[in-house]
Amino acid sequence: MRPGGQLPAPERAGSGPAGLDLPGLEALAAEVASEAARLVVEERPTRLDVARTKSSATDVVTVMDQRSQDLLRARLRAARPDDGFLGEEEGGRAGASPVTWVVDPIDGTVNYLYGIPSYAVSVAAVVGDPSVPGAWETVAGAVAGAATGELFRAHRGGGAWVERAGAPPARLQVGAGPELAQALVGTGFGYEAHVREWQAAVLLRVLPSIRDIRRIGSAALDLCAVAEGALDAYFERGLHAWDLAAAWLVLAEAGGVVTGLAGGPPDWSMVVAGPPDLQERLRSLVAEAAAQAPRTRQAAE
Ligand code: IPD
Ligand code: CA
Repeated sequence: MRPGGQLPAPERAGSGPAGLDLPGLEALAAEVASEAARLVVEERPTRLDVARTKSSATDVVTVMDQRSQDLLRARLRAARPDDGFLGEEEGGRAGASPVTWVVDPIDGTVNYLYGIPSYAVSVAAVVGDPSVPGAWETVAGAVAGAATGELFRAHRGGGAWVERAGAPPARLQVGAGPELAQALVGTGFGYEAHVREWQAAVLLRVLPSIRDIRRIGSAALDLCAVAEGALDAYFERGLHAWDLAAAWLVLAEAGGVVTGLAGGPPDWSMVVAGPPDLQERLRSLVAEAAAQAPRTRQAAE
């Protein structure tokens, strides 16, 4: 990923790395994300059970996470058989082309389980190796807010857009952002107890310096909310490539900045996002808070 998480100036219309058709990749991401979003809403069982758990007993996978991912994988493979695929659930594969599709079939699974409408399908076309922080970049992507019907989309150099039923597509552009003390900041928490303990210790130190915190429950929607100005900024430890790949590009194309704790590319240890100046102020606040937080097992990882 490019240093600082800021994407470069627009390339010639329609072309990208290795001659990729970026508008075409964005259109495909938007189409399949929307189809999977309809699937998870329309075919949600009345009684939705947990199919299995992952990192902890609260890190759940429903049958619809797997069905959404299966649909995404099948549609992307049919459209672009040479591309690689990396999803949050089981069933990734390497590809022969420079593109890997990085998907989160339901981001906000716990909201989905409880019927809270903040969950999304995230689909991103990336180049590089998405399993190595700093070694990949998103070139096109879409985040479909499943219950709301909203669609956030972008390709590199093409701006960030949101589509809502009955309204023309609207271009997203972050504002200057307020002072840190006035900033409404999104965050989230991991599924493992020792991670959450450390996150709570950091939050204790951040909270007195900002307006307030929101925990929406979908990292992809959090980042899109920053792009739209519905949140001023965002930070979270523990995100994976599939949580942020598409929404990172949406926010970057809207003029926002996404970095890790030291200002380089975001990684599992931290993601900090916002309009340029505010992002930098929040990044230093979170870095200071992280340095002061007790060194639990998680902090050493
Ligand atoms: C989670 C959500 C949540 C964030 C967690 C993620 P999932 O993804 O994005 O907001 O706090 O860190 O793991 O499990 O719902 O796909
Ligand atoms: Ca996720």
